[in-house]
Amino acid sequence: MDQCSEKTNTQGALETASEEQMELLNSILVKYKKKPGSLITILQKVQGVFGYLPLDVLKYISKETGIKSPIIYGVATFYTQYRLKPVGKYLILLCKGTACHVNGANEIEITVCDELNIKNGETTSDGLFTLNNVACLGCCSLSPVMMINSETYAKLTPKKTRKILKELRKKNQNSENEEK
Ligand code: FES
Repeated sequence: MDQCSEKTNTQGALETASEEQMELLNSILVKYKKKPGSLITILQKVQGVFGYLPLDVLKYISKETGIKSPIIYGVATFYTQYRLKPVGKYLILLCKGTACHVNGANEIEITVCDELNIKNGETTSDGLFTLNNVACLGCCSLSPVMMINSETYAKLTPKKTRKILKELRKKNQNSENEEK
């Protein structure tokens, strides 16, 4: 079972969307709206445009496709591949698959939540980290495992996990200082 719970949605993405994002969104809808059974594809592609599925975009999809909002929202919340909130600079995919679970993934999750003061599905207030629990990442022999962006961190312990997160925060701080 998850240690942490999901939070609700974010609004207003359509108002702040770039021209390019709107063009892409509309081209996806034009291409797929008449194809039966294409809601999953639409949501995947739209998430690719915005990085997540904002609530107002889901409503827009409903309006344009004629698919009822509760159905769209139901699909978007059912599958873990969809994100309903924007993600941080570092997206943590924490494996909660069986092998990782057996080897202490819960403890790792508690550590991440404690270190970052967020729960599963949330983003830190500085926009730096997002935590998403996921099923098997496909490298069970290295369990417990997490991926941060494209990097895999294996055989985690609480101590190692804290160190990784602190180092990323420091790395980000250093690059911000260099830019000033
Ligand atoms: S269960 Fe975690 S990588 Fe397979």
